[in-house]
Amino acid sequence: MKKPTVYCCKNHSELGRVAASLIAQQISQNPNLVLGLPSGKTPITVYQELRKKYDNEELDCSGVTTFNLDEYFQRGKGDADSYYTFMHERLFKYVPFKASYLPNAKPADPKEMSTSEYLTLIDEECSKYDKLIEDCGGIDVQLVGIGSNGHIGFNEPSDEISGGTYLVDLAEQTIKDNAEKFYNGNKSEVPKSAISMGMEQIMKAKMIILIANGISKAKAIYDALEGPITPQVPASLLREHEDVIFVIDEATASLID
Ligand code: PGA
Repeated sequence: MKKPTVYCCKNHSELGRVAASLIAQQISQNPNLVLGLPSGKTPITVYQELRKKYDNEELDCSGVTTFNLDEYFQRGKGDADSYYTFMHERLFKYVPFKASYLPNAKPADPKEMSTSEYLTLIDEECSKYDKLIEDCGGIDVQLVGIGSNGHIGFNEPSDEISGGTYLVDLAEQTIKDNAEKFYNGNKSEVPKSAISMGMEQIMKAKMIILIANGISKAKAIYDALEGPITPQVPASLLREHEDVIFVIDEATASLID
């Protein structure tokens, strides 16, 4: 098993530059790249750097198709706190891609059908998303963040390895973290579930780039790189991937050798 490559950056800004350069390099080698993207605080500097590269005419994404890792359940276009809106505001508004997709987490008005009908519809949407990824040739480069509990996408610590895209309940820790990061600490406002690519789907990507910054991620990074490989720490599963790069800052790296 090949060990993950680890790039240790000084801070969040440098992390953005390093990760954006890695992505830009892959796009220059394959202008029709299929790129997996996350939302969150960590990728913000990566998206700023991609935008700079585009503005400086160093980056052409016109052949690149993007797929986001996840979306909050029953959020989407028009919802201020959706990942759709986040991606639009942080990246898609500035850098034109060939096509950009997010999981459809709001396929209909749930009031118009029974819960079981609605859940069936969500399942169908998840399968469609996986099929679309496959039809585009699979993900070439998948950028991921990491939760303070070691989650990837919304794959929370679990006894089992998740498969394709699915509806998932957020862990209490994730709700707390996201409340602090995006909802002024108000946990009741954080959606409690989401549609996320599963770990098997993520692991199918040809290359995975994990980004993490700040001391709050140090333990998760230690567990991911040096603890047991277990679905209890979804990020540790990435060590079974042949081409994975961790781009982290000094604070995050403080517990690893
Ligand atoms: P963050 O989220 O980038 O906002 O820290 C990462 C994650 O929860 O996966």
